[in-house]
Amino acid sequence: MCGIVGGIGNIDFHNYLIEGLKKLDYRGYDSAGLAFMKGGKVELHRAMGKVSDLEAITPKFTGASVGIAHTRWATHGEPSEINAHPQKSNEGIFYIVHNGVIENFRELKSALRQEGYIFYSKTDTEVIANLLESHYKKEKDVLRAIEETQAELQGSYACAIIFALDPEHLYFMKNASPLLIGLDGEANYLASDAVPMIPYCNKFIDVEDGEYGRLTASDFEVYRDGKPQEPHYTERNAALLTHDLGDYPHYMLKEIEETPACIRRLVENYFDGTSFLFDQGMINALKKADYVLFLACGTSSYASEVGVRYMRELGKNSDAVIASEWAYDPFIKARNPVYILLSQSGETADLIHCLKIINERGGTSIAITNSKGSTIERKSTYACLLYAGLEVAVASTKSYADQVVFLALLKAAVEGDTDVIKDIRSAIAAQKTVIKQKEDIHEIAKKVKGISDAFFVGRGFDFLACKEGTLKLKEIAYVHSEAYPGGELKHGPIALIQPGTCVFCSISEERLSSQMRNNLEELKARGANIILFSRKALQKKGDAFSYPDIPEYLSPLLSVLCFQYLSYYVALEKDLPIDKPRNLAKSVTVE
Ligand code: G6P
Repeated sequence: MCGIVGGIGNIDFHNYLIEGLKKLDYRGYDSAGLAFMKGGKVELHRAMGKVSDLEAITPKFTGASVGIAHTRWATHGEPSEINAHPQKSNEGIFYIVHNGVIENFRELKSALRQEGYIFYSKTDTEVIANLLESHYKKEKDVLRAIEETQAELQGSYACAIIFALDPEHLYFMKNASPLLIGLDGEANYLASDAVPMIPYCNKFIDVEDGEYGRLTASDFEVYRDGKPQEPHYTERNAALLTHDLGDYPHYMLKEIEETPACIRRLVENYFDGTSFLFDQGMINALKKADYVLFLACGTSSYASEVGVRYMRELGKNSDAVIASEWAYDPFIKARNPVYILLSQSGETADLIHCLKIINERGGTSIAITNSKGSTIERKSTYACLLYAGLEVAVASTKSYADQVVFLALLKAAVEGDTDVIKDIRSAIAAQKTVIKQKEDIHEIAKKVKGISDAFFVGRGFDFLACKEGTLKLKEIAYVHSEAYPGGELKHGPIALIQPGTCVFCSISEERLSSQMRNNLEELKARGANIILFSRKALQKKGDAFSYPDIPEYLSPLLSVLCFQYLSYYVALEKDLPIDKPRNLAKSVTVE
């Protein structure tokens, strides 16, 4: 999992490569590097740590004709300068940046060792560089060398390649990792996604799996198995890809507070004032389905669980399964299933694996993603965008809300019930109220900032919200926490409750409210420190925070909003790197 960026032609490479990497560092940020060609020579700079560390050691340069850069999330080999990309071949004729994982790199490495190649890093990428060199020496043709190399590689890769004997071309190849080419009159670009290229180009080409080729400053060639390919042109909406932090201290805070506007935009895209704007084939497929299986990872999986409730309310059998589990146990429970795949990035490798299985079986899939042009969008039967705009912070916030609202709209479209629009509008207004009261949640966070363990408990929709709450607290605030259904603690975990144990709770479903309060009494009796977020109509004295009344089926939009703020402020009080928490990446393109 990494981000790559490259270009050729009349480009301010120093600025483009460094700023481009900063926009891609949601894909990993444990080391970074760049290489460029100037006056017939390649210069290489690599650094441990974030892109800013690379920027600090890279002298300002001008006059380069071609350049590549990389931000890394380590898969093979610990984060270090020697394992950072670009990696070069033994004779220094190939410099390569790579996003993906080469599964047979050990076999290839030992074969190359037999040929006399020496390896300086622990990366699978150095294997690709040397394999290219080995083939080039036999073929004397770079495109042939790439074709031969591709034939031997097993796994995923999006690579940008400098061939040091040829300053006129930038080479690339791709399989199962994203790669986009950007075109401009005076220069050509490539990157893992459109964001680094948006300031320079508005015309893009999706590189397909198995394709390779090369760019000059004014032209491009795409091949597959030695044959020229027609390019797959694609567009990107620059307005949805702005990377501007504005006056906010963190992207996470900005993105939390963009949520009401994102929901409004989502509704505008799927409802024209009188009717829903979904593909009728998709709605019919859902109507006919005897089983709806949600597949997703992380935050998207918790939005999926809300979707399961909605589908069951429609009378459908429905489950949500973590994509990495289903990928290796792809059960089918019905004759006519529909698979709903939720993914903010649209590039999550575990989910792509599931989609491959679904497609091989000829299944019907609906992709719900925030990323136009992503693999999951392109390869599913039906694809719907979330229009949440770029989400930069690693912790997903506004996308979660958009996913939940999208699923509510989808359910309503199947039922033909437009009352959902009124309900969503009331949720937007309620979210704005919570946003105004965020300092109250900040005060709660100040009181609990020292905790190292916590529980999140809830029933029904609140339990689903608690699952997302605990994930946020773990990833941003580094607090170990577990989510439990309110009734389940007494079946074991209550043994861990001691005086002062922190228990966060949400109550929004009236029918479950008194049972939940009874459960809290059981915890209180054992000394737990209960911090309760309740819906106004269900509020009682002593509750820590209350959010406005909205229809219960939309309540995760408010309870999760509160939990997002809670995690944000605990992390802020602990002075943690909120937008880029340790060990994580936003787009997880390895299984
Ligand atoms: C990673 C991110 C999570 C995200 C998950 C699923 O683990 O750190 O924040 O929820 O991937 O990502 P997706 O893009 O498929 O929604």
